[in-house]
Amino acid sequence: MKTPLLQVKNLNKKFLVRKGWFQPPSYVHAVHGVNMTVNAGETLGIVGESGCGKSTLGRCILRLIEPTDGEIVFEGQNIRSLQKPDMKKLRRDMQMVFQNPFDTLNPKLTIQHILSEPLIAHGIQKRERTAMIEETLEIVGLNKSHLSRYAHEFSGGQRQRIGIARALMLRPKLIIADEPVSALDVSIQSQILNLLQDLQEQFSLTYLFISHDLSVVEHIADRVAVMYLGEVIELAKKEELFQRPMHPYTQSLLSAIPITDPDEKKERIMLTGDLPSPSNPPKGCKFHPRCWACMDVCKTEAPLLTEADGRLVACHLYEK
Ligand SMILES: Nc1ncnc2c1ncn2[C@@H]1O[C@H](COP(=O)(O)OP(=O)(O)OP(=O)(O)O)[C@@H](O)[C@H]1O
Ligand code: SF4
Ligand SMILES: [Mg+2]
Repeated sequence: MKTPLLQVKNLNKKFLVRKGWFQPPSYVHAVHGVNMTVNAGETLGIVGESGCGKSTLGRCILRLIEPTDGEIVFEGQNIRSLQKPDMKKLRRDMQMVFQNPFDTLNPKLTIQHILSEPLIAHGIQKRERTAMIEETLEIVGLNKSHLSRYAHEFSGGQRQRIGIARALMLRPKLIIADEPVSALDVSIQSQILNLLQDLQEQFSLTYLFISHDLSVVEHIADRVAVMYLGEVIELAKKEELFQRPMHPYTQSLLSAIPITDPDEKKERIMLTGDLPSPSNPPKGCKFHPRCWACMDVCKTEAPLLTEADGRLVACHLYEK
């Protein structure tokens, strides 16, 4: 039986934005009523256009930013009620890998120093630290001769290996990877994806894998959640989603993936209109101004994420 490692329940994050001192404040509803379960050992991919709330969701789950409301249940415990010391202990189990490791690796510190930080923070003694750092470095494909160097002395792929080593250092259960290969060349991308897959097997890791690149998600994910303007609008097993997308937005996203097989024919669905502003989203279904299947009900009533044909989809077309 699948065991949920993480459950996100009705999670919301609103950012206050002030356009000018004399303007009334407005809010960007970056994450809007998100519900999802991540099972132990699986990779759940999160996809969607830029600005749809993927990173905000990932950061809220780790409480790097505080959600506005909702629950984050990790191994049966609602971590939103944890105070700082308990949250710090829990960070051993939940780590993050970022898009651009160069931005997150302190240029003034050696790799030895960078990799020691999480271990020192969790009270691990020096002798044990050295052994753990050397072992982890080898696991990610680097070696101890790299320890005295600085981040700028490494290639993009090597830097991401360091970012992964830092996340792996405390042997977490969950890793949230936010666009971990987007800044890399295609040939390096597959090396890093393979490394992440090997590590998952070796350490029974669970991944929440955020990417705007559907081909990357198709390669690595077991299930995929599609986000639009802060909401999850479809969640399904990877094969089902890629073979038969149900939500009109998912259909349009998948129609834009380039075809590699010359015999295959695919019609590109071009969306009309721009992505609406997240601070002033359309009423009803947020996708309705761009949807070719829009009905009257779509303009006034927001569809709920409900089960249809063995998956979850938020669209009036599939309501019984
Ligand atoms: N600190 C903040 N203050 C105000 N608005 C924010 C803040 N962080 C994010 N937002 C807004 O929240 C929305 C979601 O942003 P987020 O970075 O989560 O999107 P994303 O899906 O990760 O995009 P990308 O693919 O470009 O990384 C955007 O409209 C963004 O402008
Ligand atoms: S609810 Fe209506 S507007 Fe929204 S995706 Fe479905 S058909 Fe399109
Ligand atoms: Mg992002």
